[in-house]
Amino acid sequence: MAIGSPRPKILVVGSGGREHAIVWKLAASDRVGEIYSAPGNAGIAQLAQCAPIDAADIDGLARFAREVDCDIVIVGPELPLSLGLADRLTSQGQAVFGPTAAASRIESSKAYAKGVMERAGIPTACYEVFDDPYRARQAAVAAASRAGSVVVKLDALAAGKGVIVAHNPEEAGAAVDSLAKGAAEDGRLRLIVEECLEGYEASVIGISDGKDVVTLIPAKDHKRAFDGDMGPNTGGMGAVAPAPGIDRDMLEWISDRVLCAAVRQMGEEGVPFVGALFAGLMITDDGPKVLEFNCRFGDPETQAIMPLLDTDLLDLVEASCNGCISQLKADFNQAYSTCVVMASQGYPGHYSTGVPVRIPPELPEGTVIFHAGTRIANSQLVSAGGRVLGVTAVGSSALQSRRRAYDATERIGFEGGYCRSDIGLGIGFAGESL
Ligand code: AMP
Ligand code: GLY
Repeated sequence: MAIGSPRPKILVVGSGGREHAIVWKLAASDRVGEIYSAPGNAGIAQLAQCAPIDAADIDGLARFAREVDCDIVIVGPELPLSLGLADRLTSQGQAVFGPTAAASRIESSKAYAKGVMERAGIPTACYEVFDDPYRARQAAVAAASRAGSVVVKLDALAAGKGVIVAHNPEEAGAAVDSLAKGAAEDGRLRLIVEECLEGYEASVIGISDGKDVVTLIPAKDHKRAFDGDMGPNTGGMGAVAPAPGIDRDMLEWISDRVLCAAVRQMGEEGVPFVGALFAGLMITDDGPKVLEFNCRFGDPETQAIMPLLDTDLLDLVEASCNGCISQLKADFNQAYSTCVVMASQGYPGHYSTGVPVRIPPELPEGTVIFHAGTRIANSQLVSAGGRVLGVTAVGSSALQSRRRAYDATERIGFEGGYCRSDIGLGIGFAGESL
């Protein structure tokens, strides 16, 4: 391990907009040495040396990290973490920013996360865990009859498809049936039936060293495919930072009572969490309550947050790996950021790839384009996934950042590509329009 080496070599695992934003921020540091990425994408390849190793190929990634003798590995997505990539890298003496498989259960097992919250006194929705789908169905239908709405969750990583908000008893029964069907394929089934919370959502990410947390500015993502939060859930169609509706006091409260509380609880239970801890929150009339924890940076929140971060990301990552995060704080400039995702026609359902994407050299001031599903084919940038670009712009007001981001999307050539037109609108933005 060569943490503290003057110009560390860093490997960033993943291929999405989040990883491009991390690489982009690292590349702006004058302390960072070489940057590698696996597998990366066409945008990341402009800043880092990419190796075609799948993010779930733990053996391949561990071998590559050793071959290039990298000093720190930053793991973007949850899957390699839950498969034990951090444990493997640590065992071969490499510093890693990302939790062990045991600690990543805060995301991969909602039942475990609920247990941590309960033991740490972190506010969250009332819930019950079921191993028997028949009993889960009875409970969900009864709760929906009583309360009108109920939420059913699958206790596993499900790429955003493991949560159904049901608005009546019939939908509640159907939600249990459909989640139970999805789970039957791997033989294990555990469902959570949860109180449906009302309010507005925000995401708050903390960088932890296993003991303390440095909290980043809050962000807000837009998960549904279409304007007005209609249509199916996606990996995220856009994000803004700072999130509207979270003032300094509330952020401090969240940092202390949610992020620090979770990290301290996990530490006391012998499962220290090192890396980025993401809290998905519902801000209710009774205050913030946790909807979910993720064991990594959010996507697309990270694309909105990184352009506002003044602190060197390498400093935060090193302090996390070295166990001295309490000596740092994260400084943010007083600007606003909007990330608008351009997605392939048909996403999140069936879509084609290989569609040419043209990004003009002239873009509005403050704009940065984070690539997600892109690759180069015959010297031409083409789409390679559902979410293709995170068109991000910084401005001195939320309105200016939105205008710039949307202006940039209009200059980009991407046949059939679509984006939501209301990213950054909603609570806290009332009265502002393009
Ligand atoms: P999760 O993966 O647990 O964050 O759930 C995905 C989305 O489902 C959240 O962003 C919320 O929009 C919604 N959701 C999850 N849990 C609840 C809840 N208890 N009440 C209301 N909405 C929820
Ligand atoms: N934007 C939510 C997530 O990263 O899971």
